[in-house]
Amino acid sequence: MVKTNIPAEYEIKEVIHQKQYLINGELKTWDGKTSEVYSTISSTDEYAPTLLGSIPDMEEKEALEALGAALKAFDKGKGAWPTMRVNERIECMELFVKKMQSKREEIVKLLMWEIGKSLPDSQKEFDRTVEYINDTIEDYKQLDRDAAKFEKNDGVYAHIRRGPLGVVLCLGPYNYPLNETFALLIPAIIMGNTTIFKPAKHGVLLITPLLEAFQSSFPKGVVNIVFGRGRAVAAPIMKTGKVDVLALIGNSKSANALQNQHPKSNRLRLVLGLEAKNPAIILPDADLDLTVDECIAGTLSFNGQRCTALKVIYVHEDIAEEFNKRFAKRVDALKFGNPWEEGVKLTPLPEPGKPAYIQELIDDAREKGARILNKKGGQHSENYIWPAILYPVNKDMRVYKEEQFGPVVPILTFKDIEEPLDDMAESNYGQQVSLFGKDVYAIAPLIDTLVNLVCRVNLNSSCQRGPDVYPFTGRKDSAQATLSVHDALRSFSVRTFVAFKDNSLNTETVEQLLESKLSNFISTDYIL
Ligand code: G3H
Repeated sequence: MVKTNIPAEYEIKEVIHQKQYLINGELKTWDGKTSEVYSTISSTDEYAPTLLGSIPDMEEKEALEALGAALKAFDKGKGAWPTMRVNERIECMELFVKKMQSKREEIVKLLMWEIGKSLPDSQKEFDRTVEYINDTIEDYKQLDRDAAKFEKNDGVYAHIRRGPLGVVLCLGPYNYPLNETFALLIPAIIMGNTTIFKPAKHGVLLITPLLEAFQSSFPKGVVNIVFGRGRAVAAPIMKTGKVDVLALIGNSKSANALQNQHPKSNRLRLVLGLEAKNPAIILPDADLDLTVDECIAGTLSFNGQRCTALKVIYVHEDIAEEFNKRFAKRVDALKFGNPWEEGVKLTPLPEPGKPAYIQELIDDAREKGARILNKKGGQHSENYIWPAILYPVNKDMRVYKEEQFGPVVPILTFKDIEEPLDDMAESNYGQQVSLFGKDVYAIAPLIDTLVNLVCRVNLNSSCQRGPDVYPFTGRKDSAQATLSVHDALRSFSVRTFVAFKDNSLNTETVEQLLESKLSNFISTDYIL
C-alpha cells in the first residue's frame, strides 16, 4: 500500500490523448495505432500505475513524409530557412522561446509524472532549457558579429561564415527529455538546418504543449515532429541516406544501429552523447565529509539515471572502511517519495523493468563475493529498488562492466593509483572522472594523466554536465562531437565562405553586394 497524498495542482485530472504531429508546418491529426503512456507513480492508495494518455505509434510512411518535408524546406540549399538572414532566424527562435515559457507548469507536471523527476529538478530542467535557448541566441549573435568581415591572404579575400549541414535527425534521452533533446534541436535549427525530431521513449507527452509553438514559430518543414518507436520511425529515415546529421543522446547501441543503416557513412555527421561509467577516485587524504556529499550527489541524483553519474567508486584502502560506513549511512537517510514531496531525493523509476535489472546486478555481484553495505540496500517497493552499495566489487561482476543507469553503487578499493588508471584506460568509456584529495604532489601528475583519459576532471566535485557553457563531450564510446552553448553551434554547422582574387571587378562587385544587401550571406552588418 502506498499513501499518495497528491497535491491538487499535480493530480492527473484528465488523460492526454496526443493525436497531433507536425509535418511540413501542419499539425496533422493521427488516426492510426496508438500506444498508451503510463506513469509508474500511483494515483491511488492501492498501488497501480497511472494512465497518463496515449501517443501515435507511427511507422515508415509518416517517417518518410517528415523526411520529405525537411528535405523540401532545405531545398538543396535554396530553402528560405538555410538562406535566411541570421537576425530573422533569431527572431523565429525568440518567438518560440517566448511561447515555450508560457507552458512551464504543464511541462514541469508532466516531467514529474512521466519520468519521476523531483519537482525542483523538473523546474530546473525547464528553466535550464529556456536559459540554454537564450544563451544560444546570444552566442549566435556573437558568432555572426565575428564573421561580419573580410580577410585577405596572398591576394585572396575571404568572407567566412558557418553554414548549415542539411537535414538533422534528432533523438533525445528519457532522463532529460526536454533539456537534452533541445540541446541538440535548438542549435541545429538556429544554424539553418532543417530537422526531424522524435521524442524519447519516456517523457513524450511533455512535448505536446510545445507542438503549436514549433508550428507557429518556424517556417514550414524546418521542424518536423513524429512519434513512435525508434526502429519504426528513425531506421527508415536513416536508410534513405538523405540525413546529413544524426544527433542522438542515448546509448551507443542505438547510435551504432542507426548510423549503420545510413548507406553513405562518410556523408553522415554524428553528434552523439552516449553512455559512460564515470569513476570517483578517492585518495587517502580526501576530505571525507565533502567527498561523501559529492559522491551522494554524483551517484544518486535522479536515482543515478544520468550519463554523467558516478557509476563506480574507487576508494583507497586506507580510508575505505570509514568512507563506506559514512556513505552507507547517508544513502539510507535519503528520502524516497513522489516527485512533488518536500525534500525527496529518491523517486520512482520510470522504466517498469528497471528494479528487476538492478536486482540482477545485485544478485550477480553477491554471487561473486560482494556484500550490500547499507541496511535498506536492495529493498523493493512497487516502483523502486533502494540503492544498494556493493562492496568489494571486482571486474568480473556485471555491475563493474555495465552502465547501471539506476540506483546501485559499486565500490572497489585500490592500493596503487595505477589500478584505477589502468581500468580507465581499458574502459570503453571516457567521459569524466571525479578526483578527491588534497596533496598537490599526488594530484598534479594524476590530473595530467586523467585529462588524457576523459574529457572533464572534476576536482573534489561530482561529475556533471553543467554549466551548459562548458564543453560536454567524451572519448571512446562516450561521445562524438562536443556540445555546449558555443560548441553545439559549431557541431551543427560547417565553415563555408566566399573567396575572390583582389582585382577591380571583384572589389566593385562585392562593394555592390554589400551596399545593395541583396545577399544574406555576404553582409558586414552587426546584429546588436
Ligand atoms: O544523462 C546525462 C546528462 O547529460 C547529465 O547531465 O550532469 O546535467 O545531470 P547533468
